[in-house]
Amino acid sequence: MHFLLAITGSIAAIKTPELIRILRKNGHSVQCILTNGGEQFSSKTALEALTEFPVLGPQIFTHNLSENPYAHINISKSADALCIAPASAHTIARLAQGMADDFLSATVLASSCPIFLAPAMNHKMWEHPATQQNIKKLQEYGYTIISPENGEMACGDEGTGRMAEISDILAFLERVNTPQTLKGKTVLISLGGTRENLDPVRFIGNASSGKMGNALAEIFWKKGATVKLCAGMRTEHLSSSRFEISETLSTSNMCQEMERLAPNADIVVFAAAVADFTPLFPLGEKQKSGKSLVLELSPTVDIAKKLAETKQPHQIFIGFALETDEKILKTEMMKKAEAKKFDIVLGNTEENLGSDTGTYLFWSKDAGTFEEFSGTKEEVAEKIALSFV
Ligand SMILES: Cc1cc2nc3c(=O)[nH]c(=O)nc-3n(C[C@H](O)[C@H](O)[C@H](O)COP(=O)(O)O)c2cc1C
Repeated sequence: MHFLLAITGSIAAIKTPELIRILRKNGHSVQCILTNGGEQFSSKTALEALTEFPVLGPQIFTHNLSENPYAHINISKSADALCIAPASAHTIARLAQGMADDFLSATVLASSCPIFLAPAMNHKMWEHPATQQNIKKLQEYGYTIISPENGEMACGDEGTGRMAEISDILAFLERVNTPQTLKGKTVLISLGGTRENLDPVRFIGNASSGKMGNALAEIFWKKGATVKLCAGMRTEHLSSSRFEISETLSTSNMCQEMERLAPNADIVVFAAAVADFTPLFPLGEKQKSGKSLVLELSPTVDIAKKLAETKQPHQIFIGFALETDEKILKTEMMKKAEAKKFDIVLGNTEENLGSDTGTYLFWSKDAGTFEEFSGTKEEVAEKIALSFV
């Protein structure tokens, strides 16, 4: 794919060369556009060396006009997308007004390819009603805003305004040519492991990494779905630029959040390793070491079963079944499908927990047969998502 990548006057411009490096490594070509502000934070020489293309802008009249007088009209015709990363408050305001007095703004107006903006600015600038109104306008024009993240900023303040992670901007760009077969659909995924407190500092947990849930979140997002996550403990974290994430540590917490979000979901995936037991009497204070401790456990709420009670006819439920005894796996999968109204069940073994690869037994209500899926969790997720075209 070929991308136009514009850089404006934000300190986050120091991150853009890494985006260019990865895009090129992934086989794409990139041509950069600089604004006046962008020139202050980026080296034209470095960008030309990285992209092997001349840098365009900031002014509309300064490039070789006799060779390509209509560059601002033509340049986007061969591009798969135009991305502004970082996008300053000033450029956002100018684009919202439909200005065309520099190379970038004229190119944006004349462009017919998809346009992405990754805003980066101080949180006060981001929250200002003027910026928010401009962002709304750009969304109305059909541009995609890659939401900034919360965190510490270069100026030392903390808040929302940090440019989205390079990996998220990359995901948006590489999705451009993927058919958006799940656009308009909402997918809710529980992932990771829940934990049940024994005392204020100790808990019962499990070895779930959240990798399978993450892989499914990525593939459903790639196909255009809105993806919401109820996430327990996990080793890998997706970012809030692309996913709505609720942190739900305990089983009861996760259940409440799943019940709140499920009514608006089209597909619900139960990928979390939920604790089946919780201490009947959690201790209010830290248990002293050196003494034995007898625990009485009670069963936790069965989230999938609870949600099955209010399952709507159009909804698709995907569940997992893990057995240490493989001989009973198929029977247990069928039992779970029946009890929890699962349309798809994946038979899981303990080796899959925490691992990057896995072998899963796939069963769907439509096909009614068992099939073995193995590979990386991303590959398995792709095969599961094929059920949704
Ligand atoms: C050190 C420094 C850092 C800046 N960082 C940002 C920033 O992160 N985001 C932003 O919107 N403006 C930032 N600005 C202000 C812009 O650079 C300024 O508004 C400029 O006119 C933007 O021009 P442009 O949109 O044409 O690139 C910064 C200014 C300075 C001096």
